[in-house]
Amino acid sequence: MPVASLPEIMDRAFRKRYGVAAFNTVDDITMHGVIKAAEQSKSPLIIQISVKTVKFWGAKVVKDMFTEMAGRATVPVTLHLDHCPDPQVARSCLEVGWNSVLFDGSGLSFDENFQHTREIVKFASQFGASVEGEVVAVAGVEDGMGSESEGDLLPIERELDFIKETGIYCYAPPIGTAHGFYKAAPTIRYDRMQQLVEATGMPMVLHGGTGLTHDVYTRLIALGAAKVNISTQLKKTYADGFRTYLEKNPSQYDPLKLIGAVQNDVTAMARGLFTIFGSEGQA
Ligand code: 13P
Repeated sequence: MPVASLPEIMDRAFRKRYGVAAFNTVDDITMHGVIKAAEQSKSPLIIQISVKTVKFWGAKVVKDMFTEMAGRATVPVTLHLDHCPDPQVARSCLEVGWNSVLFDGSGLSFDENFQHTREIVKFASQFGASVEGEVVAVAGVEDGMGSESEGDLLPIERELDFIKETGIYCYAPPIGTAHGFYKAAPTIRYDRMQQLVEATGMPMVLHGGTGLTHDVYTRLIALGAAKVNISTQLKKTYADGFRTYLEKNPSQYDPLKLIGAVQNDVTAMARGLFTIFGSEGQA
């Protein structure tokens, strides 16, 4: 089953306590690069797309590209929309068959977020799709979304109400991680992660996955982070790949050699993370 739903991929990861990498791919080179990595590592995979990338290519183009590439894959792969504060964009992806979306209403009041999330869950269910929810904004700007600082923590009971009553499938918990490169080691709220998982039995999503130590990944995955989001590291690998190749080969004009080299870099980066997250050999 090459194209899978988010629960088909995350339920098992949550049960067995490994993490599935969700890479924010931006084009065919990166999408194919991480699928190749997943096949080589025999790992399940989440292809994740930012709203900025959806606006660049269009929801249908991304979906068609995904279907062509993932449809041939030998491991389960799913297509997920990352941080989407606009219900219209989320709906447009679900309408053309994306598997899941993160409706990010963390910039709204609790009640508005609750309402919108519940509506998106209902809409998604018509298509057999799932929804990730977020209450407290993760720190750091990601592809034009979010703000530099983490949102204010709420009493955990409010989060639990949101999780239980909206019908979301998985949750982005406020545990002190941040999007982008860390300027200092983050203080991780392991206790919050543990309490949320214990109280809900719901798979959690680790945002701000770039640049954490092995120990942080391992501890959070053991507590129930079944999806580990990686965006900045992929973008860096991609940009560095072009730069390095062109610096080493200044008079090489074969685009396929260039993008082939960049894709190999992306594949190697992804394989390394599958090993750390424990998903290698799980598909
Ligand atoms: P990084 O940019 O730190 O990899 O975070 C990715 C992320 O959480 C996407 O939602």
